[in-house]
Amino acid sequence: MRLKDRIAIVTGAGVGLGKAIALRYAAEGAKVVIAEINADAGCAAAREIHDAGGDAFFAPTDVAEEKEVRAMVEAALHRYGRIDILVNNAAILMFGKDARAHELSAEVWERTLLVNLRGHWLCSKYAIPQMLKQKRGCIINFASPTGLKGFENLTAYSVSKGGVTALTRAMAADYSRYGICVNAIVPGCMETPMNALMLSNDTMRQKRISTTPYGRLGKAEDVAGLAAFLASDDADYCVGGFYAVDGGTMAI
Ligand SMILES: NC(=O)c1ccc[n+]([C@@H]2O[C@H](COP(=O)([O-])OP(=O)(O)OC[C@H]3O[C@@H](n4cnc5c(N)ncnc54)[C@H](O)[C@@H]3O)[C@@H](O)[C@H]2O)c1
Repeated sequence: MRLKDRIAIVTGAGVGLGKAIALRYAAEGAKVVIAEINADAGCAAAREIHDAGGDAFFAPTDVAEEKEVRAMVEAALHRYGRIDILVNNAAILMFGKDARAHELSAEVWERTLLVNLRGHWLCSKYAIPQMLKQKRGCIINFASPTGLKGFENLTAYSVSKGGVTALTRAMAADYSRYGICVNAIVPGCMETPMNALMLSNDTMRQKRISTTPYGRLGKAEDVAGLAAFLASDDADYCVGGFYAVDGGTMAI
């Protein structure tokens, strides 16, 4: 058990990649805070961990709301007394509403940046003071290929992920010397609820598969091993890195 008795906050852990990470962390011995905006999904994920013999609780959280993030971190500390791992996973992609720059509404731009970028920052802002006290901590952000190269019709999401890339580097520069390792995972095209609408279009699905050298789309479980490694002692000297789990998409 690589994460025995570590305390992990995983945002957006109700479904998709966050849920797969939360389940893996619990299986590796961590106690997990499910910080999630969707109460049904958050409760169900916590219940699944309990049913498997693990320890977790659901903390209702909109990561874009400062008061809710503060309350979630306080609840984690009240229950477990420390924070070893923060996985900034929660994000939205407003497929069909996100668009080219001149067609994008201010509402879509603002909500996307609030959740995806401000959310990563706010959760870090409130978890870091405890990690500084502990002189140890691990933060994993969720970046994206869209923040690294151009994709069509995804201006707001791409900009938010470009921001996460910069935030990861800035936090790695600021906190590594205090024992807090900050890294980012860069998934490729994964079969999660985020992509359900896009992948229900067969042409788009085939296009995504054909640009993935491995020959299939990613599954939520594909990120869990890397997330467990990055949170473990084996990753001690991994700092400010961007780790792809994309079946080779970014290699071509
Ligand atoms: N799926 C992909 O192909 C892909 C590719 C690259 C990067 N990513 C990134 O990986 C991460 C996980 O993606 P996913 O595919 O699992 O997403 P998903 O949409 O399937 O799940 C996201 C989870 O976050 C929760 N959430 C949404 N807004 C929230 C908020 N304001 N506060 C708290 N929780 C909130 C949702 O309820 C849901 O449980 C995201 O950061 C995403 O941008 C995903």
